[in-house]
Amino acid sequence: MALVTTTEMFKKAYNGGYAVGAFNVNNMEIVQAITEACREEKAPVILQVSKGARAYANHTYLVKLVEAAVIECPEIPIALHLDHGDSFETCKSCIDGGFTSVMIDASSKPFAENIEITRKVVEYAHDHGVVVEAELGALAGVEDEVDVAADKAHYTRPEEVEEFVSKTGCDSLAIAIGTSHGAYKFKPGTKPQLRFDILEEVSKRLPQFPIVLHGSSSVPQEYVKMVNTYGGAMPGAIGVPEEQLRHAAQLAVCKINIDSDLRLAMTGTIRKFFAEHPDKFDPREYLKPARANIKELVRHKLVDVLGCSGKA
Ligand code: G3H
Ligand code: 13P
Ligand code: ZN
Repeated sequence: MALVTTTEMFKKAYNGGYAVGAFNVNNMEIVQAITEACREEKAPVILQVSKGARAYANHTYLVKLVEAAVIECPEIPIALHLDHGDSFETCKSCIDGGFTSVMIDASSKPFAENIEITRKVVEYAHDHGVVVEAELGALAGVEDEVDVAADKAHYTRPEEVEEFVSKTGCDSLAIAIGTSHGAYKFKPGTKPQLRFDILEEVSKRLPQFPIVLHGSSSVPQEYVKMVNTYGGAMPGAIGVPEEQLRHAAQLAVCKINIDSDLRLAMTGTIRKFFAEHPDKFDPREYLKPARANIKELVRHKLVDVLGCSGKA
């Protein structure tokens, strides 16, 4: 199977009461870990690339790594998506360069400007057979170089979504219902709670329309502990409870973005490896267990959180 867009994936996910995982990729080991788990679980998958990933690994290397995964995993649908595209130019470069899906994130701009930029990207993307994710509302946390302070974050306003979708023609919509980017999503001691009332109001206004959740890592305490035990310092790292994501996946949420959890698994595993083997210096030796742990974490997400195992 060649790279696919998310259109068919989202239709099946919406009607099937599950979500497709969107995992960020930055190097070969991460691509392999994610796609091997998805192949074994027969799950569709979205591999997404941020502006930072393109700056780190180079566009061509990332596209070729993903193309290699498509060859190695012919049984599963794989989409290649630009995460948090910040301008028409970045989106165009990914559309021209082999991506099947792009996000234009103009959510920090005023409503009318967000519509204008998004519509321009949609026109170009649709002319080239590529689908577009847009965003309304502002998540807290760090994404690429942009750090949205908690007091600047705001929930999506359901009364804006119909006008936004009809005027832009976007194919899916990321909304802010309390998730946030990074490993510090909630204050220690507070009870994390997503705003399901907003999600339900949005989906009532946009029937059958795929909704996206960013900032959906759950920050597994097992890996926070591993990082902290072996020389790291991540006090108070807390994520979104997995049961709440599972519930969202049963509603209109068709795409759930997970990146920080994979980073934690990789970093925790490598820290542990070095602490236990201070004499080792072959990157293959420490990347191998890191890749294996990311793979098992992705499998857990597919089966227990997203509900997309067996849906390829
Ligand atoms: O939302 C942002 C993603 O986790 C990607 O992070 O911009 O550091 O590549 P990045
Ligand atoms: P996390 O930081 O919660 O993994 O979110 C990732 C994300 O939304 C990528 O766009
Ligand atoms: Zn995001």
